Formats: sequence, structure tokens, C-alpha cells
Amino acid sequence: MNLPIATLERPGTADRAEFRNAVLAGLGATPRAIPARFLYDARGSALFDAICELPEYYLTRTETEILGRCAAEVAQRAGPDCALVEFGSGSSVKSRLLLDAMPDLDAYVPIDISREHLDGTAARLRRDYPRLRVEPVSADYMVLDSLPAFINGARRIGFFPGSTIGNLTPEEATAFLRRARRLLRDDGALILGIDLKKDPQRLHDAYNDAAGVTAQFTLNLLRRMNRELDANFDLAAFAHEAFYNPAEGRIEIYFRSLRPQSVTVAGRRFSFAEGERVHTEYSYKYDDAGIAALAGSGGFTITKAWTDPERLFAVAWLQATA
Ligand code: AVI
Repeated sequence: MNLPIATLERPGTADRAEFRNAVLAGLGATPRAIPARFLYDARGSALFDAICELPEYYLTRTETEILGRCAAEVAQRAGPDCALVEFGSGSSVKSRLLLDAMPDLDAYVPIDISREHLDGTAARLRRDYPRLRVEPVSADYMVLDSLPAFINGARRIGFFPGSTIGNLTPEEATAFLRRARRLLRDDGALILGIDLKKDPQRLHDAYNDAAGVTAQFTLNLLRRMNRELDANFDLAAFAHEAFYNPAEGRIEIYFRSLRPQSVTVAGRRFSFAEGERVHTEYSYKYDDAGIAALAGSGGFTITKAWTDPERLFAVAWLQATA
């Protein structure tokens, strides 16, 4: 069975005009910044997959280990006949840990902006879970207003793993949670994976790996601008820069100019002083009080949280509050 993919809101991938407009606006602004979502072209996505395997990048393996341990309890809390709704599903690798523990699940609704990703993922899931209704939605979950009507009768359990919430500013994270709260309804809940505050050196190392994969991930944005926007960035003349800002509780990531230079992007010229940088990502880290406050601001209460022995990462059950 190969059901059509529902398209809600905007069409799939960010198109070239959107990329061009965002880059020109971002390089023209003070301070300069390019939205993190543009890091994920095909090569960027492959580099991020490689980051997840790095010894320094504890996030993925720690969350996977926690999910493996808590899946049965998650299933019990969810109850039978519910719908699992994943925000930003990618290849749904982590959701399989939950799907394996939830044989009574009514439906799985992966939401992803990439239609290509959804097509392949849905086909594989239907093959591996023949009794499960897989209903993909191709949309940007930051602007999604409704879910497919066929899950109307089911309790909706959201899933937002990977500490993707950390890439949102606290204001954006609250806006996302409020939206999720509306979509998941009064009896719903959200399973949230979130990276915890810890020894700054450990955080620093996770975003400055010895093999330089994270640097390639950042500099891939320059490569993408060269290819798609007819830019002429010299990749050897820029460097990846990532550090922990303890006052803001976040990793900040930039690309930095190693010398004075000017670059043409989509026919426009931009000058860079030596040391001048362009912001590409935040990765916020939370403590228990911060997670509770964030959940509350979005209309949820944390009723359970699972963590690892070193308290590196948390998976929290956020229950919708009336
Ligand atoms: C996708 N996201 C949760 C990653 C993070 O850790 O903030 C993105 C990333 N950027 C560089 N390394 C990983």
C-alpha cells in the first residue's frame, strides 16, 4: 500500500529563491546571520549524520540509549490506540525504538519538510510495521496548523527528539510548544529529547571535534552558497567557530573570515574584515528548572523525565495542561 503524502502549509524543501533572500538579508544585517535550516542540503544532512557518530558528540548515542530504556514506560503512559506524531522525523530512526514498544499504536504521523525523506521513510516503515498506519505529512512543523483528520479519534502523542528544540531560541521554542500543544489537544503529551547543561569543556568538544566534521558542516554552507547562489567564497579563507556562552546557556556557531576579503553572492558584493563572523546556529542547553519553565510556557507540565547516569541528556514526558 502506498498512500499519498498529505501536504499541509508550505511545499517541501526550501527553494532557491528562499535561500537567496535569506542569505542576502542575513549578510546585509548587523550582526550577520544565516538561518540554521539552510545547513541541511544533501551534503549537510550527510555531514550531520556523520556528526552523530563522532566520539565527542554524545547527544545521539545518549538519547538512543535513554529511549531504549524508557520505551516500555512511554508505551504504558501513552496507552493503546494512540497516534504518535513526530515533528521533524528525518529517517525516523529513533521513532523505531518507540514503535517497537508500542504494538497497539493506531497510527504514526511523521512530519518533515523533506518530501524525499518522507517517501523513503514511509515505504520502509510500512514494510517493517505492516499493521501500523503510517500517514506522513510534508510540512514545516513551525507553521503547521492541523493534522490529518483520520487521527481525530486517537490520543495524540508528540515526539520531538534530538534536542532540535535547542536550535530554537527560547521564544521560538515556546512558540513551537504552544503550536504542538494545540495540535496534540487537551489529552495529548509530548516526548521531548533535550540536551542538558554540563561541564563547558564537554560541550565545547562536542562542537569542535578532532576530526573536523563539525567544521565541514558549517563550511558546507559556503559551498552551498557558491553552488546555488553563484557565490565565490574561498573555503580556505573562513573558519568554523563554536563556543559555549555560559551566560546564555548556549553553544554559538559562526563562520569567521581569516583575512580581509570581499565575496560576491548572487551578484552582490560583501566585505569581510579579518575576524568578522557570520552566525549560523545556536544550540541551547537546559537544566531541570529551565526545562520545567519552557514546558510551562508552552502549556505542558513535565510528569516524568528519564536521563543517563552522567546526566548528559534528558527525555521528558510533557503532559498537556488544561
Ligand atoms: C540538530 N541539532 C540538535 C544539532 C545540535 O547539536 O545543536 C546541530 C549541530 N550543529 C553542529 N553540531 C550539531
